[in-house]
Amino acid sequence: MCATILPEKHMHYPVLLNEIISIISPQYGGTFIDCTFGQGGYSSKILEFPDTKVIAIDRDKDSLKKSTDIKLKFEGRFFFKNLKFSQLNNLKLKNENVKAIIFDLGYSYSQIKDNKKGLSFDSKGELNMKMGINDFSASDVINKLDEKELEQIFKFFGEERESKKIAKEIVLKRKVKKINTQELVKIIEKTKKIKNFKIHSATKVFQALRIFVNKEISELIYGLINATKTLKKDGVIAVVSFHSLEDKIIKYFFKSLSEAKSISRYVPKTPTKKNLLNLISKKPILPSSTEVKQNPPSRSAKLRYAVKKYDFYNFETDILNKFKYLIDIENYSKKL
Ligand SMILES: C[S@@+](CC[C@H](N)C(=O)[O-])C[C@H]1O[C@@H](n2cnc3c(N)ncnc32)[C@H](O)[C@@H]1O
Repeated sequence: MCATILPEKHMHYPVLLNEIISIISPQYGGTFIDCTFGQGGYSSKILEFPDTKVIAIDRDKDSLKKSTDIKLKFEGRFFFKNLKFSQLNNLKLKNENVKAIIFDLGYSYSQIKDNKKGLSFDSKGELNMKMGINDFSASDVINKLDEKELEQIFKFFGEERESKKIAKEIVLKRKVKKINTQELVKIIEKTKKIKNFKIHSATKVFQALRIFVNKEISELIYGLINATKTLKKDGVIAVVSFHSLEDKIIKYFFKSLSEAKSISRYVPKTPTKKNLLNLISKKPILPSSTEVKQNPPSRSAKLRYAVKKYDFYNFETDILNKFKYLIDIENYSKKL
């Protein structure tokens, strides 16, 4: 879940902001792409440095209002598109010398609190979970997919140990009537035997549904691929993630493209021996204890970054093969 908040004061609080700024160095000017504009925390900070330009995107139309305010403040230096970051290549950036592309994954505080979006298990009414530019809702998933498909979604996207029992109970209950948010929470609470007092019983299933509805696995993989293609030599790609599935993908992507080895067995060895990326540190950057104290949800944030060293071809086969089993699960949605 997103951690861009200072909960007590309901203030916007961009996670790992100082760390991002020190990695991308906007003090020297240049063009930056903010793939997850949200409330504009990163974009505004970058624009405070003169000679910078920011191209921002967000899939949620609700970001438009904030983007208009920033556009007025930094005239001619800020551009916003309502787009998914997997479609980064639609931006026609051929002539831009992009210095850095940043991702701050997850959800903003205003999205979680928006009852209509139904991202939280406290939400009332219909199951939704659409963040923006979606084809189907969580209600379609819960009320239409097969038991086995639901089980796989909860297991792989939520790491829910009792996914089988929960899926079975959902399919039984929906025969009687359509399941909404509160009914889903009740089903999970009643079905789960293993109690974890640190998190709500429904947390994992809700995480799984959000990932599935927003196709977050393929979004992230294609976002990383297209960002790497968009960057020129010495451009930086920086990603803040909030759960282990995202981090696993990012870690693998950076590591596999920064090792001096053949990237894919399908391409000739010589050119791929060069490393496409330079991974500065194998370890992620974590929020300081001060940041976690100010903004507790930031405790799960991890920042990884790499620098692009070479321009080439056909590097996506490996990551697409590696996580094919997850993309195949996302593809259950094709019948919705
Ligand atoms: C954690 S918030 C970003 C907060 C932002 N860094 C700030 O400082 O205000 C994540 C944002 O990313 C957006 N988002 C998530 N997945 C996306 C995707 N695949 N394409 C575009 N935007 C996405 C969400 O709509 C949300 O507004």
